[in-house]
Amino acid sequence: MKAALIERYGSNDLVKVADIAVPVMGPMDLLVQVKAASVNPVDVKTRAGQLKALLKYRFPLVLGNDLSGVVADVGAQVRRFKKGDAIYARLDKDRIGTFAEFAVVREGAAALKPGNVTFEEAASLPLVALTAWQALVETGTLAAHQRVLIHAGSGGVGSVAIQLARHLGATVFTTVGQHNVELVKRLGADVAIDYRSARFEDVAKDCDVVLDSAGGDTLVRCFECVKPGGVVVSIGSTPSATFARSWGLNPIIVLAISVMSRKATAAARRHNARYEYLFVRADGEQLREITQLVESGAIQPLVDKMFPLEHVRDALAYSESGRATGKVVIQVA
Ligand SMILES: NC(=O)c1ccc[n+]([C@@H]2O[C@H](COP(=O)([O-])OP(=O)(O)OC[C@H]3O[C@@H](n4cnc5c(N)ncnc54)[C@H](OP(=O)(O)O)[C@@H]3O)[C@@H](O)[C@H]2O)c1
Repeated sequence: MKAALIERYGSNDLVKVADIAVPVMGPMDLLVQVKAASVNPVDVKTRAGQLKALLKYRFPLVLGNDLSGVVADVGAQVRRFKKGDAIYARLDKDRIGTFAEFAVVREGAAALKPGNVTFEEAASLPLVALTAWQALVETGTLAAHQRVLIHAGSGGVGSVAIQLARHLGATVFTTVGQHNVELVKRLGADVAIDYRSARFEDVAKDCDVVLDSAGGDTLVRCFECVKPGGVVVSIGSTPSATFARSWGLNPIIVLAISVMSRKATAAARRHNARYEYLFVRADGEQLREITQLVESGAIQPLVDKMFPLEHVRDALAYSESGRATGKVVIQVA
């Protein structure tokens, strides 16, 4: 089968499309013929080796974290799916590889693809929609009439998070470039803050939940927006020490992360708020909830550009530009 892979970490030039063996599934896995996969910033970070301390991969490494496709075969213990089902999934973080004609998906990570969207649109959703769900529903327990600040509302995560927060009945603040103000309002944002001309902490006050996607100084400033008892959920670059311990990272890395995140931890204490770092996990059950929201029209996929598998480098470069509006999708079949 054709697959986009790397043999060592580094620049985009190292990504190549090669012929390799179809992956072998276990008894609780699905073998999926991939129709489409989406590009996420994590793919660029993985390619560059920026996640080496967190994720131990072997080479050659097929890139890609989420997909849509058709079940080609099922393991002996699979009960939920059968050959021919159209599914979508975010793969487990240590078993990635969706930029390929076939991928192995754990049964518990998959859900039936929403019937009202194309394979490309479905592929744009799993990683970002699960991120939004785990940040706002699971960690933030966001409820009707609460206030939420969502950073980068025009991005992959932000565009779904706005729609989810709107569906939950929250008042939504979002940061966005001027050219995308109309877009985020259409998605359901109540207040769009142009990040180039305004300081978000001057506008978004007393939020119950803040979704940070930048880390660093932005993460620290997010605590100015959260009310006492609220939570800042970060998916940006600064994991918390609690997160590092929960992943069983070695004590030296935990110590380094504690030092790196000390400003955010101190800000959380000062504002009597929680600071949670999230690394999105595969979850077929949550994805089934998302399928329902897509089928009801509450969440609509937002695809910016599509690239054939052969142009995977262009797809990665476009995502790496940080300027995509919504998602970048790779068409495989
Ligand atoms: N920890 C996790 O589990 C997890 C999961 C998903 C994503 N993430 C991380 O979250 C971040 C966002 O992911 P994504 O998929 O949404 O990225 P993305 O789609 O590539 O984000 C691009 C969007 O961000 C906007 N943007 C850039 N700088 C901004 C700023 N300062 N303020 C507001 N908007 C800004 C851009 O708008 P303009 O063109 O107008 O600038 C563009 O629309 C990435 O760092 C990613 O690695 C982490």
